[in-house]
Amino acid sequence: MYETFYGLNENPFNVTPNPEFIFLGKNHREALAQLLYGVREKKGFIVITGEVGTGKTTLIHYLLEKLEGNNHTKTAFLFNPKLTVHDFIQYILKDLGVRVQGQTKGEHLHHLHRYLLNAYRRDERVVLIVDEAQGLNPELLEEIRLLSNLETSKSKLLQIVLVGQPELDKTLSRPGFRQLRQRINLRYHLTPLSEKETGEYIEKRLRIAGSHDPIFTDQAIREIYRRSGGIPRLINILSDNALLNGFALDQKQVNAKSIREVSADLKLHQESRRVWQWVLLCLAIVSGFIVFFYLNQEGYLSPLYHEVLRGFESVKRIWVDGWKHFSNLFN
Ligand SMILES: Nc1ncnc2c1ncn2[C@@H]1O[C@H](COP(=O)(O)OP(=O)(O)O)[C@@H](O)[C@H]1O
Ligand SMILES: [Mg+2]
Repeated sequence: MYETFYGLNENPFNVTPNPEFIFLGKNHREALAQLLYGVREKKGFIVITGEVGTGKTTLIHYLLEKLEGNNHTKTAFLFNPKLTVHDFIQYILKDLGVRVQGQTKGEHLHHLHRYLLNAYRRDERVVLIVDEAQGLNPELLEEIRLLSNLETSKSKLLQIVLVGQPELDKTLSRPGFRQLRQRINLRYHLTPLSEKETGEYIEKRLRIAGSHDPIFTDQAIREIYRRSGGIPRLINILSDNALLNGFALDQKQVNAKSIREVSADLKLHQESRRVWQWVLLCLAIVSGFIVFFYLNQEGYLSPLYHEVLRGFESVKRIWVDGWKHFSNLFN
């Protein structure tokens, strides 16, 4: 909508996991290195976690692109793990390009095993990537563990990458998944971008979209970082709305004020303010306890206790006397 106004060829802040727009911050580079190493060295299980919007799916698409360019690697990518066990096996077969024959789960597992053995003989690696893995039900997780048992005496036949939100870690730490946990050879947690990386990220996306001049001022970038916490999805939403706002107001430069306005419209700030309110409340309670214990230990509170107790005694006496008078009236 605003592309021509800013001299861009396409929307720079689309929230789709397009590998063309990939920006690899330090954290993303490390995660990618672990993934490539794990797949190349046939490490078996790899787990990648990260908060919503930190770029897990984008990274996986980038990895798939890299792996698919390599003749020695075949991939199956499951983006929605809400399947029954049987559907799951069929899905993997289809994604690997194997014609699904037979009806039963046993027959399908047999085909998968044969495919993996043939791939091994051809010196090919087979990788199964499960996105949104925090949504896997226990039965499917157990099936995935069993798939990781497929191996020759020398090597694993299937590399498995589980990608998900931090709840995935919680699921895996349950006692029932002890065996699966022991098979995880590589783990990585994606964190948000730093302030410097946020600037580089915005600049890179704008450049790929065809921009030649800086559109966002340094203060605007600082404000985006403050309000997005360095989470790419939020950076995109804020930047996209700020560009639209600038277009509507005929302003070619996006400044901090514009970011504050769009952030307020998107109610991003309110959320962080609510978090701060909770933090302040907790701090106030903790400080209250500390002051109380300190005063108590120093003996400042005992005179106060006595005063309060004396007050209670007087109130009690008034009540008791009042009650006696009241009862006497009726005797
Ligand atoms: N490393 C990255 N480089 C470029 N864009 C990214 C990157 N990480 C995330 N994004 C952008 O942020 C959006 C949300 O990222 P996504 O990969 O869907 O996050 P997650 O899967 O962790 O919830 C993506 O659609 C993409 O536009
Ligand atoms: Mg995702």
